[in-house]
Amino acid sequence: MPRERVRAFAPGRVNLIGEHTDYNGGVALPFAISRGIVVDAVAGDDRRVRAHALDLDQDDEFGLDDRARVADWRAFVRGAFAELGDAGLQPPAARLQIGGDLPRGAGLSSSAALEVALCLALLALAGVAVEPLATPTATPPPAGASVARLELARLCARIENEWVGAQTGLLDQLASLFGQDEHALLIDFATFAIEPVPLRLGAWRLVVLDSGERHVHAGGGYNERRAECARACELLGVATLSEADALAAARLPTPLRERAEHVLCENERVRAATSALRGGDLTALGTLLSASHASLRDLYAISTPAVEATVQRLLDAGAAGARIIGGGFGGCVLGLFAPDVAPPPDALVVRPGAGARLLEDQR
Ligand code: GLA
Repeated sequence: MPRERVRAFAPGRVNLIGEHTDYNGGVALPFAISRGIVVDAVAGDDRRVRAHALDLDQDDEFGLDDRARVADWRAFVRGAFAELGDAGLQPPAARLQIGGDLPRGAGLSSSAALEVALCLALLALAGVAVEPLATPTATPPPAGASVARLELARLCARIENEWVGAQTGLLDQLASLFGQDEHALLIDFATFAIEPVPLRLGAWRLVVLDSGERHVHAGGGYNERRAECARACELLGVATLSEADALAAARLPTPLRERAEHVLCENERVRAATSALRGGDLTALGTLLSASHASLRDLYAISTPAVEATVQRLLDAGAAGARIIGGGFGGCVLGLFAPDVAPPPDALVVRPGAGARLLEDQR
């Protein structure tokens, strides 16, 4: 049943470990957080879309058939309408209000959260059901038109790739769509198998500390890293770097050799971190976080002086491990703190939360 008015929520994510492995066919271990983007949508009675971004106090207005390319947050809104339409899931015209409590460009995946929240809201207005979140009491999918969460993740990534111009992978969209309370998600990007792994922190704390440096993936070093990985695959004759033979990868020219070494070792660290979580060994997890950071700094070259200073602040405060998260070149740093160690006062405590959903307020 098409709804007249909906409120959709999509969480941001923290990637515990497994950075720059998603578009390399590897593994990652992200979790959805409780902060996210909220989209309020009301079905319109003409063929015009009107959108308002609360934090920026900016507006956009366009016709349902308008395919003009625009910059900034507006690209996400127009891309959502276009990609849903192209997938045969055309939403009606609508009035949208975008809010929430997720800072933009801070490495907490505000882009994916925006794409996912927009699509959930628009699909509800169109009367298209989305596969329910997996919970112990999951209800069967409703009858009628319905979209699987994996398909929706792919559609959201197309918004980012085609409309925003950032060649990002599926990590953020999958984390936002499949998040589970108290769990991280072990995602295998070769098969798209998603396995929840209990993230029992007890009195330990995971925090993110903002480096203060903002990054934009479109046109930045992120796309350059993707191109380097594609080139390395070509030279090695493999479809993804995760399939590469370590000895062959070691003979690549620099810096492709370093990029490949990062990916292969990062996959191993994800597996080791999964075992550490299952064994309740958070000290080992901390060591793996710091090893991941060293690799992202020295081999993948996505750190900056501001990020290094932020990592150092966390380590000076006594973190058991710290690393840059997300695409790199700024954003947030993740730190793990043992029960008796206080994180810096300006760090934000993050906990795993549930994935994207419609909120109850659906008058
Ligand atoms: C960004 C992208 C993801 C992923 C990470 C790096 O967050 O959106 O697809 O590639 O960077 O792990």
